Amino acid sequence: MKKLFYIFLLGSSFQIKAQTQLFVPDTITGPNYNLTMHQDSVQFFPAGKKSYTYAFNQYKYLGPTLIFNKGSNVNITVNNQIGDTTTVHWHGIHLPSKWDGGPHTPILPGGVWNPQFTVMDNAATYWYHPHFHMKTAEQAIKGAAGLIIVRDPIESALSLPRKYGVDDFPLIIQCQQYDANNQAMPLGMQDSIILVNGGRASHGYTVNANFPAQMVRMRLLNASGERSFNFGFTGNKQFKIIASDGGLLNSPVTTDRIRLSPGERAEIVIDLNAMNGQTLHLMSYASELAMGIQGGPTMPMPVGSPPMDSPLNGIDFNIMQITVVPQTTNAVTTIPSSLTTNVSYLPSQASVTRTVRFTADSAMVMDGPFYFNGNSFDMMRIDYEIPLNNIEIWKIVNETMVAHPFHIHDVQFFLIDRNGNLPSAEESGRKDVVLVPSGDSVMFITKFEDFADTIIPFMYHCHILMHEDDGMMGQFIVKPILTGIRKTDINNTFLLYPNPATTELHIELKNNKVSSYQITISDITGKIIYKDKNSSIINASDFTKGMYVLEIEQDGNYYHEKIMIE
Ligand code: C2O
Ligand code: CU
Ligand code: CU
Repeated sequence: MKKLFYIFLLGSSFQIKAQTQLFVPDTITGPNYNLTMHQDSVQFFPAGKKSYTYAFNQYKYLGPTLIFNKGSNVNITVNNQIGDTTTVHWHGIHLPSKWDGGPHTPILPGGVWNPQFTVMDNAATYWYHPHFHMKTAEQAIKGAAGLIIVRDPIESALSLPRKYGVDDFPLIIQCQQYDANNQAMPLGMQDSIILVNGGRASHGYTVNANFPAQMVRMRLLNASGERSFNFGFTGNKQFKIIASDGGLLNSPVTTDRIRLSPGERAEIVIDLNAMNGQTLHLMSYASELAMGIQGGPTMPMPVGSPPMDSPLNGIDFNIMQITVVPQTTNAVTTIPSSLTTNVSYLPSQASVTRTVRFTADSAMVMDGPFYFNGNSFDMMRIDYEIPLNNIEIWKIVNETMVAHPFHIHDVQFFLIDRNGNLPSAEESGRKDVVLVPSGDSVMFITKFEDFADTIIPFMYHCHILMHEDDGMMGQFIVKPILTGIRKTDINNTFLLYPNPATTELHIELKNNKVSSYQITISDITGKIIYKDKNSSIINASDFTKGMYVLEIEQDGNYYHEKIMIE
């Protein structure tokens, strides 16, 4: 009954209000990328207030597309002008944790952050967005996000559409909820305002894209806070999926649907060769989504639950109109049947299987909080210590009523199992987000290589932003390999290493009987330069090179050890 009512509203009282052309953000190519995140506002609604937004550079919403070339160095300057603390995370990019933009590397209001790294990723579509704990949803849905396109020699050698804005289009698709004052609501579960690259595309608004009559590539990003889309085209027109989150598939997958949960990307190619003058629509066939996937048919709700009945749930709706215009010169009219060779790891190479269960306080919980293995996120707790170069299997088990898109930083992974079956062809490439519906279990394999850091962890979390902000997140550090390093034994109680040290000193307890101790480090003149309780890792990177005395006080006993920083 209720659904019929909404459809009636959508169909009759919201007449066509406006049609806009697809907005294609400008690109920035390296090696220097200057990003200024600032406050702005957009008149999203015909009446009432403007909506306050966050954006990058010249835009009022979203940001420019960053073009990275594999193997090159990038030097990014992020200038925070939003009047609030933030971070910027390069979603899907493999880089040192200190440049990952997670919650441990805040950029204060007015502050500037300058990550510099070498691009190691394969050609694909990545994105950037804020990641400051408990502010991610608010800041991302206000518009602080943009795309990253990585190019590499393998992809560049293929005959694929890659003329940005001509036959290769970024599509940042969001579904959001706005309050009575037209302001974005981070916790809304009645999201029904569709935005395509920041242009309104629902309730009588249409975004139109003029695509040439040839092969056209779309880089789809679901940047919504919660909703999954089941993309397809009118008439069930077939298309080819050529890339998943982190790279090309081995060969194009012909299909008429692709489901993308929040954070996921796909590159698809649609054949418009014979369609000059015709129109079609990019749609979400949400009626086909399983119950429990946000955006799918609404579940019967326990009494007292917040409303989740967005009018878009469980119906098929238009996202973007495509008008086919004449072919361009040098058009790509066919695409290759083979793209790349992805090499996964063998389960026998894995040194551990870690099980991450999605849990909640009770089986009836629909809106959170959700946990990993019963734990809510704690900035001070490291959930896993992963030895550098470990190959691991992660088994993700959803014991809750709703689907969650699981995302892990630092790595791209390969699915090896979905409920006892091999992954589908479209899920067999490199990925960094996987949707795990209620009751499902998924296994992936990956290798934690290149970047160890014992201080700044990487995150893994649900990419439903309100779940993440609500604590459905964990963190891991990648531990450097320290074998062959002599450890100094102190009173059969502590192990100190390495000595000499360069950037950090580790204090390890030999047994767990000790509950509290005090570390003091003095220089050779006796001046105390470091004092802390129960430290396990001491950051020595700003100590002047030279000799120091480390003192451990434990239960009134004092132990001394000479240490060398070099
Ligand atoms: Cu898209 Cu941890 O983020
Ligand atoms: Cu990420
Ligand atoms: Cu979730």
